[in-house]
Amino acid sequence: MPCQTNNELEAILEEAKYYTQKGKVADYIPALSKANPDDLSIAVYHPDGRCISAGDIQESITLQSISKVLTLALALIECGEEYVFQKVGYEPTGDPFNSIVKLEMSNPSKPLNPMINAGALAVTHMIKGQSVEERLNKILSFVSLLTGNEHTTYSKEVAKSEFETSHLNRSLCYFMKQHGIINEDVEELLDLYTKQCAIEVNCLDLARIGIIFALDGMEPITNKRIMPAHVARICKTFMVTCGMYNASGEFAVRVGIPAKSGVSGGILGAVPNRFGIGISGPALDDKGNSVAGLKLLELLAEKYSLSMF
Ligand code: DON
Repeated sequence: MPCQTNNELEAILEEAKYYTQKGKVADYIPALSKANPDDLSIAVYHPDGRCISAGDIQESITLQSISKVLTLALALIECGEEYVFQKVGYEPTGDPFNSIVKLEMSNPSKPLNPMINAGALAVTHMIKGQSVEERLNKILSFVSLLTGNEHTTYSKEVAKSEFETSHLNRSLCYFMKQHGIINEDVEELLDLYTKQCAIEVNCLDLARIGIIFALDGMEPITNKRIMPAHVARICKTFMVTCGMYNASGEFAVRVGIPAKSGVSGGILGAVPNRFGIGISGPALDDKGNSVAGLKLLELLAEKYSLSMF
């Protein structure tokens, strides 16, 4: 079913678009600095398979941190809850996503949650296979299953750009290797992680992923189960407590839905039993969240009473 442009959504997007000027595109991954800061698009998926949109929904971005929710789901499916939470914790940090400080302070150096970079690297380490390629294909297949797009690929340019500059993530890995959280070659893990972060999607793909989480792991229309309900529940819980990094508390007050952002300007939203939301808006605020995307969600939350709380 094609996604229909919707006038009401267009009007809300126009209002939020002004805020794109208040943000900046990420440039610590050099390839991301090529994004257009004025872009903003949204798609909303309903449980009956209807999809409405506003803005240029073909605009593609890379998943970046949104991939952390998807690898968490995959690791929970493959390794089980007990194993995953031996290696990563449950608690929000209140620190920026790439901070190293709590790793040294926590005992025994277990990353506090799977949504910060350290935790996500530990989760990606759990995705097993004979080679980086085989592990990446597993992640790509899972993303394809969620988006319904068989041709999911990653941007070689963005992956390479991050791989070559990701020294902070390397430090997090070496720290965790020293303390036995991971035990593989750090360069291989970073190769896989940067490719996972560079998987390309548009807001429509994100909305499709969102509706599957919103429906506790079920696909709309076909009613096929894509992931166990408890896996969807755990992921949504982390999206509420840690999905918007050290802005998660404010986001819970202002919007009140499970959501996950990425530094490419994507936001994945899952309104339980109601909507899957996908947003692309590369201009970021100082915490790394899409500034106009946040505004858009705030306006939507108010208009349609989206808050779970
Ligand atoms: O590891 C990184 O720094 C990036 N690949 C992902 C970070 C990210 O998206 C944080 N988001 N707000």
